[in-house]
Amino acid sequence: MPSASPSSPTHPPPDHVSGRRGKLRRRLKNSAALAAALLVVAALYMAFAPQPQVATGQPDGALVAQGQDLYTTSCITCHGSNLQGVPDRGPSLIGVGDAAVYFQVSSGRMPLASQSAQAQRKPPRPEFDPDTPPGRANLEALGAYVQANGGGPLTPSAADASLRGDDPARGGQLFRLNCASCHNFTGVGGALSSGKYAPELGPASNTEIYTALLSGPQNMPRFSEQQLTPAEKKDIIAYVRSVANGGNNPGGNPLGGIGPTSEGIVAFIVGMAALIGFAMWLGAKN
Ligand code: HEC
Ligand code: HEC
Repeated sequence: MPSASPSSPTHPPPDHVSGRRGKLRRRLKNSAALAAALLVVAALYMAFAPQPQVATGQPDGALVAQGQDLYTTSCITCHGSNLQGVPDRGPSLIGVGDAAVYFQVSSGRMPLASQSAQAQRKPPRPEFDPDTPPGRANLEALGAYVQANGGGPLTPSAADASLRGDDPARGGQLFRLNCASCHNFTGVGGALSSGKYAPELGPASNTEIYTALLSGPQNMPRFSEQQLTPAEKKDIIAYVRSVANGGNNPGGNPLGGIGPTSEGIVAFIVGMAALIGFAMWLGAKN
C-alpha cells in the first residue's frame, strides 16, 4: 500500500490542497471585492464629477428674466429676439455661453459701437463694468440669459485674483506653444490677415483672459478645459501678468518684446559694432 507521506510532492496532503483552494477562493473574493469597489467609485464619480463645459443645475428664473431685459435693451437689434442673430448685424449667440458674454461685454467690445474688421477693446459700459457690484450683477444676469438658451462654457466663479496660478514658468512654456504665434512671445500682440489683429494682453483682467480662452473670440481658437486644464490656464494667466504689464523682464530691456530671436540679433549687432569700434580705436591709437 503506497504511503503518502505529508512531504511527498506528488501526493500533497489534503490540508495543503484545501489551503491552495482556500487561497484561490480568497483571491477570487478579493478581486470581486475590488471590482465592486471600482464600480462604486466609478458610479459615484459619474454622479458627482464637475462638468465645467455644460450648465449644471437649474437656471435662476429671476436672474434669467433680468438678463432678458438687459438683452432686449442693449443687444437685441444685432443678435435677434431669440439670440438667432441678425444678417449683416450680429452672429447667433446660441451656445456661445456665459463665458463669451462676460468676455465680450466686460472688455467693452459689446454692445458693438461701430462695424469694423474687428470689435475693439474699450472701457465697458458703466452698467456692465465688472469693477462695480451692479455691473457684476448685470453681467451675471446677461450671461445667465444667454446660458439658458443653448448652454456653453461658464465664467469661472472664482475671484479674479485667484485665477492667477503660481507657476508662471510652466505658463510661459504653454504660452509659447499655444499663444505666441498670434500674441507674440510676451503678449504684446501682433497683426493678422485682413485688417485683424491679436491684441496686447496686458489690459485684459484675469477673468477676461480665462473667458477668452473658453470662448475663443473671432480668429482665436477655443481652449476647452480638456485642452488646457484649469490649472494650466491659471499658469498662463500668471505668465501674462508677469510679462505683459512690463513688470518683470528677466532678460533686461525687453526691446518692445519682439521675441528672443530678434532681441538676440539686436544684441549681436550692437555688441559687434561696439567691438569693431573698440578695435578701430585701438588701431588708431597705435
Ligand atoms: C451693433 C450691433 C451689435 C450690438 C448692439 C451687440 N452686438 Fe454682439 N456682436 C456683434 C458683431 C458684429 C459680433 C461679431 C464681432 C466680432 O466677433 O468681432 C458680435 C459678437 C458677439 C459675441 C461673440 C459671439 C461668439 O461667437 O463668440 C457675443 C457673446 C456678443 N456679441 C454679445 C453681445 C451682447 C451681450 C450684447 C448686448 C450687451 C451685444 N453683443 C450687442 C454685433 C453687436
Ligand atoms: C490664431 C491666433 C490666436 C491664438 C493662437 C491665440 N489668440 Fe488670443 N486672440 C486672438 C485674436 C484675433 C483676438 C481678438 C479677438 C477679438 O477682438 O474679438 C484674441 C484675443 C485674446 C484676448 C483678449 C484681449 C483683450 O484685449 O481683451 C486674450 C486675453 C487672449 N486672446 C489670450 C490668448 C491666450 C492666453 C492664448 C493661448 C492660450 C491665445 N490668446 C491664443 C488670436 C489668437
